[in-house]
Amino acid sequence: LPQPPDILSPEFAADPYPAYRILREHYPLFHDPGTDSFLISRYEDVARAFRDPVFTSDNYEWQLEPAHGGRTLPQMSGREHAVRRALVAPAFRGRELREKFLPVIERNARELIDTFRDAAETDLVARFATRFPINVIVDMLGLDRADHDRFHGWYASVVGFLSNLAQDPEIADAGLRAARELAAYLLPVIQERRAAPGDDLLSTLCTAEVEGTRMNDQDITSFVSLLLAAGGETTDKALAALFRNLLAHPDQLAAVRADRSLIPAAFAETLRYTPPVQMIMRQPAAEVTLSGGTVPAGATVTCLIGSANRDERHYARPDTFHVLRGDLTPATAFSAAAEHVAFGLGRHFCVGALLAKTEVEVAVNQLLDAFPAMDFAEGTAPADAGVFTRGPERLRVRLVPGDD
Ligand code: HEM
Repeated sequence: LPQPPDILSPEFAADPYPAYRILREHYPLFHDPGTDSFLISRYEDVARAFRDPVFTSDNYEWQLEPAHGGRTLPQMSGREHAVRRALVAPAFRGRELREKFLPVIERNARELIDTFRDAAETDLVARFATRFPINVIVDMLGLDRADHDRFHGWYASVVGFLSNLAQDPEIADAGLRAARELAAYLLPVIQERRAAPGDDLLSTLCTAEVEGTRMNDQDITSFVSLLLAAGGETTDKALAALFRNLLAHPDQLAAVRADRSLIPAAFAETLRYTPPVQMIMRQPAAEVTLSGGTVPAGATVTCLIGSANRDERHYARPDTFHVLRGDLTPATAFSAAAEHVAFGLGRHFCVGALLAKTEVEVAVNQLLDAFPAMDFAEGTAPADAGVFTRGPERLRVRLVPGDD
């Protein structure tokens, strides 16, 4: 029997996928001493943990609450979660999103591309992927565009706090300071929008009402902080991974360039193959039995999304990146591949999934239009980094600018 992998080891951080395979095959339920949690790695078990209400997120990542200055959706359950979700989710659905926010998304993609349109080389992560989702959220909220950089700073500090596994006190302080500054910035704007609501997302949050419940000021500042963190890092890593995966498969890049209706399939396959969120914690309220045995009530269960998405019991050739995998056609690829668990499943399924998809479609279209040829500047594909969230930290590309 192979040794059980150590998910806190440098080897795992360098490439978790061989370790995931060992877990799926030999240790489908494994108590990991490093994180004092039960790792689950097969698709069937991870999907069950997301869907079955016995798995709560009551003690969800203890650091979420200080980072966002209050309780937020991922840690809520039952009626509290249902009401809060009903308050915010409509703003992220189809028509609302497309009619109100598509121009905002297009404008932000264009403005960022303008900063390197004539460059021979750029880092798509630093110059585009990390900035784009934050700028979009700030504009959707109807906040001051001149403050994009300040929001980026707050976002970076909050995300630093959330991934501060070593508990470095400076990183912790910077995160808490950012949370306070962000709330102080938002509070007067919230007063203005309550008095005179506009067409923006912040006004929607200020005025939304479900079963007589409204969000108070702190609910709103915490939710905005959650949006920056949950919508920023993930979309950043997904965009970077998508370009890296396509550049590493030039035939698939050429196919997507020629037929842009393949972009949603390329996005879905990227989320399956290299999901930005690799693991999510749950806590069973009662004893539960999974593939490899029994988990006691109250234990922590780590759902390995990156492993479920490569489960050979669920996918043919799981370690191959292929935009048109299996019987997926461009028209059905996004919903069919939503079978991947990169957005979670069930009650906590990602609120921003459609926004992320729309952002990626706009960004990929505009980048392919702006640059008729693109290649790795350093000759080889950059690797992914990160354990809980994972993606390329930089992506230097050589660019051939187009006419426009
Ligand atoms: C929830 C991934 C983009 C907002 C989630 C969850 C995952 C996820 C795995 C489930 C967490 C759980 O079950 O505990 C992603 C990925 C994205 C992305 C991979 C990009 C490719 C976004 C965007 C936004 C967003 C753009 C909004 C701006 C949220 C929120 C939740 C959530 C508010 C909490 C939902 C709840 O607990 O009910 N996301 N996300 N996400 N996501 Fe995303």
